[in-house]
Amino acid sequence: METSYTIRKFVPNDLQAIMQVNRVCLPENYTDFFFIDLHQRYPETFILAEENSKYLGYIMCRIEIGLSNLGLGGLTRKGHIVSIAVMPQARRKGVAQAVINQALEGMKYYKAKQAFLEVRVTNEPAISLYKKLDFEISRTINGYYSDGEDAYVMTKKLDPKP
Ligand SMILES: CC(C)(COP(=O)(O)OP(=O)(O)OC[C@H]1O[C@@H](n2cnc3c(N)ncnc32)[C@H](O)[C@@H]1OP(=O)(O)O)[C@@H](O)C(=O)NCCC(=O)NCCS
Repeated sequence: METSYTIRKFVPNDLQAIMQVNRVCLPENYTDFFFIDLHQRYPETFILAEENSKYLGYIMCRIEIGLSNLGLGGLTRKGHIVSIAVMPQARRKGVAQAVINQALEGMKYYKAKQAFLEVRVTNEPAISLYKKLDFEISRTINGYYSDGEDAYVMTKKLDPKP
């Protein structure tokens, strides 16, 4: 499989194109302020993939402080994957894996000890992807999505940067 895409950090000039990838791929859409705010606060975890100036996908995250559900004790810094999507024609080429792995490095840069995300309980491609990257289902949130669907919370421990 050809893997000629590039992985890099988001810059503000990418905003409209990334909002379009988000609209094509997900029902959860956000204002331009939301994207820019996450980029300003956590630039190391807002990553995109492109190929020949075409946008293939992105991930954006934020760092939160909360109780660890992985026995890490007390309040823990956690990297929250807020949104990730890959354009339909670019799927199954490892793009999502690549942007997640880069974002996990960014989370470690912000000293997060674990990563987590919410995923629709019927979203089998995404659940398979996260399991492949060693995320585990830690709980279910009933009615998490605006259409009433439940979410799994999936969590992964992060090894500290050497
Ligand atoms: C989920 C999504 C991001 C995956 O992107 P992707 O670039 O195709 O994923 P990758 O190529 O990196 O896949 C890595 C692994 O994930 C799993 N996987 C990905 N898509 C899969 C599918 N459709 N069916 C089963 N497993 C799948 C496989 O284990 C795959 O490894 P393999 O191709 O060697 O078998 C993409 O399908 C997408 O954008 N979906 C719509 C938006 C969405 O659901 N976002 C997640 C919201 S929580």
